[in-house]
Amino acid sequence: MTYVSESPLHNAVNKASTALFQTAYKYGVKKVIFGMEPDDAHEATINFSRNAGKIAPLMWLLRQMIDYTDPILETKVMGVDFNNPFGLSAGLDKNCDMSTVLEAAGFGFETVGSTTARPSDGNPRPWFHRLPEYASMMVHAGLANDGSEKVINRVEKAYTKSTTMRLSVSIARTNDDFTKDDAEGIEDYRISMERAVGKSHMIEVNISCPNTRVGERFVNPETLDKLFDVLDTVEHPQPVLVKMPQDKAWPEFKELLDVLAEHKVDGVTIANLRKDRTGLTIPTDWKGNLSGMPAYAKSNELIERTYCDYGERFAIAGVGGVFTPEQAYRKIRAGSSLVMFVSSLMFRGPQNITTLKRGLADLLRRDGFDTVSEAVGIDVA
Ligand SMILES: Cc1cc2nc3c(=O)[nH]c(=O)nc-3n(C[C@H](O)[C@H](O)[C@H](O)COP(=O)(O)O)c2cc1C
Repeated sequence: MTYVSESPLHNAVNKASTALFQTAYKYGVKKVIFGMEPDDAHEATINFSRNAGKIAPLMWLLRQMIDYTDPILETKVMGVDFNNPFGLSAGLDKNCDMSTVLEAAGFGFETVGSTTARPSDGNPRPWFHRLPEYASMMVHAGLANDGSEKVINRVEKAYTKSTTMRLSVSIARTNDDFTKDDAEGIEDYRISMERAVGKSHMIEVNISCPNTRVGERFVNPETLDKLFDVLDTVEHPQPVLVKMPQDKAWPEFKELLDVLAEHKVDGVTIANLRKDRTGLTIPTDWKGNLSGMPAYAKSNELIERTYCDYGERFAIAGVGGVFTPEQAYRKIRAGSSLVMFVSSLMFRGPQNITTLKRGLADLLRRDGFDTVSEAVGIDVA
């Protein structure tokens, strides 16, 4: 394979088409999308991606235009080889409709879901509000999805077909009126875990969805321990990450990590949506929790402290407020081996993956690193 970075012609085409996409998104597509209600824009994005993914020549063209490849971005985390450390975080592609488009655009991986044992309609609409002044979305979807039986079957197909992108599936507890006690919740996770065995490159266990009827029952050392006592019994060849909450003081966060360290957990995704609205002007009747820039600083702090105290015990996937290569690099230097995002895809457009990859490669070279992994945790004393 010839890397784009090593082919002067392809590199020039990639640069020019990324700039073209950026302009087209900023002055055209974004205006259309942001002119729609956020819930409708979300549906339209999913439908467009699903249909575009079926047009093979279009996908070929997309890859030629914007997929930037560079050996410095290749990395191995939790035994999985990635073309680059960037992934789509959970929540946008709930039902696995976008994997073909994301792969052609050059994502290193995507997280499908969160998906749950039973299909669920999630919370009443609206699910989303935009906060452009904070580069943030308010999210109150409540884990709407087609159910893990269907979703994981689609993930398996994408996993089998994919060549350059890795697939992770996020599993969560069903959010509906049939939820009972914690034992029922654990069984819900177990069913989805069982369904995911061998059908993706990674599994992410989402314990921290802030928008459900039963609440975050497993963001608590005792119940978390019980949950993983059961999940550990499901033999799985792929690594497991846990999606951590954002709004926890370090001592409480550390208690959760101490529990996870005793179980078959390979990595932690830091972190989920921010609940705290302090300092932000948001209509009080808007339900939901915050993505994007408001999630950046706290996520970095938790990444850094986790890397400092647990070192190699957990691989860290850093997420929250990554819009620029510098912000991604900061997460890596704080201890993240992988970097994910959702909001910047909405606010900046699909070519932002290329901007992030190219920019990260430049930053790594500027600082004398030969690989991403050499920079992981370099800022942590
Ligand atoms: C529209 C939307 C839906 C989300 N749904 C989920 C979800 O189902 N499961 C999950 O673990 N996180 C979910 N999240 C949280 C994201 O995965 C991520 O942790 C958070 O948005 C911070 O990243 P960002 O600043 O790049 O958006 C969602 C976020 C957004 C914006």
